[in-house]
Amino acid sequence: MKVFRKKSADKQALSYLTKELTLKDLIMLGIGAVIGTGIFVITGQASANYAGPALSASFIVAAIVVILSGLCFAEFASRVPISGGPYGYMYVVFGELSAWMAGWFLICEYMLAVSSVASGWSGYVQGFLGSINLSLPHALTASYNPKEGTYVDLIAALVIIFITLWVTQEVKKALRLNNLMVWVKFGIIILFIVVGVFYVDPNNWQPFMPYGTKGIMNGAALVFFAFLGFDAISMAAEEVKNPQKDIPRGIIGAIVIATLLYITVTMILTGIVPFEQLGIGDPVAFAMRYVNKGLIGSIISVGAILTLLTVTISMLYSLARLIYAISKDGLLPSFLQKIDEKRRTPKNATYVAGGIALFFAAAFPLTILAELTNITGLACLVMMSLGILRLRKQLGAPKKGEFRVPFVPVLPLVSVIACIFLMTRFSGVTWLVFGITSVIGLIIYFVYGYQHSHLNKK
Ligand code: ALA
Repeated sequence: MKVFRKKSADKQALSYLTKELTLKDLIMLGIGAVIGTGIFVITGQASANYAGPALSASFIVAAIVVILSGLCFAEFASRVPISGGPYGYMYVVFGELSAWMAGWFLICEYMLAVSSVASGWSGYVQGFLGSINLSLPHALTASYNPKEGTYVDLIAALVIIFITLWVTQEVKKALRLNNLMVWVKFGIIILFIVVGVFYVDPNNWQPFMPYGTKGIMNGAALVFFAFLGFDAISMAAEEVKNPQKDIPRGIIGAIVIATLLYITVTMILTGIVPFEQLGIGDPVAFAMRYVNKGLIGSIISVGAILTLLTVTISMLYSLARLIYAISKDGLLPSFLQKIDEKRRTPKNATYVAGGIALFFAAAFPLTILAELTNITGLACLVMMSLGILRLRKQLGAPKKGEFRVPFVPVLPLVSVIACIFLMTRFSGVTWLVFGITSVIGLIIYFVYGYQHSHLNKK
């Protein structure tokens, strides 16, 4: 069995995609992918049920984990010019089986994240429709749950169809909507901060840690979701003008901006509303209504509805390119690498990714989707951090001009421990589904990928 067969780090994959993305596009892509349901929905639920006002500390814990992994990502991205993100990197350091498993976890993570955000989005839209006295037939309002009389989340399904069609358009066209929405997103967050800061009552921050350190850590595992997507940047490598320099900068820039916004919003949110009352679908807008700023609350709602689209666009964009990269190596069927002649985008990969995400979004509830997204994402980060240790053995220290993770091997090891620690905060059911997912991944590899791999033919 040659499950450890590797690709060489200097093998620049032949690219048929257009190289037109700049640093600004990358930071926008990152922020577009990162800021979304995490800040607009999960902050409220996490502070009500997990951490209270100390959720800001949870964000710091999660951000540290993400930055540690982000640095490892950045070194890989600047030293290994291969598309597919962690999938491509694992191919170089640990060989094919690890590459496939990293790719498989990433496919699951992205697909579940697209579904999660679409599902959260559906909740916002339905809330908004409800406020103007419109509603869908009950059976079409939520995921499959015959006991409750719901069968399909129609709005989540429709939004995924729309996004899928959009992402198959030219790269620039898809990202232009994304860039515009990123500004809308900034706009409503700044609006919330500027107005909200005047209504903060420091008494609401007492007790600051109602659920103790345990609550902060459990909160961190949940709000890790709010940072997912930062790696979308490294996966666009094939379409970036100057990947060596711009990818590390894009990753770190996007994480730092997101963290600052999350902490500020959390402090203001829990300063305005007693945290026990925040466990609702639209906490940020709710805080404005709470202080009788209903109009601003509505602006924030509409803005959130529009901007959650950017998260799904960025995620689906990256997912399609990942599937395309894996298929180019023979580990997934070749029809997935078909490029749209006119638009130069991997169209079949986009349709398949969109189709599966649609199924999950329509059929499963948000909570299950979000926990699974996090655990698969963390598993992949563990592999990435271990990969840096191996990369240093293979290629030596980074050369001038390449990005260097500081304090190797300590920092990557701390990163591995931190990721595993967050993974231990999830429930048994999440672990069970994660186990089943891993076994399915292994079966796909040994039944299909191993035989059809291009490395096998060589
Ligand atoms: N980080 C993304 C969000 O919060 C997945 O929606």
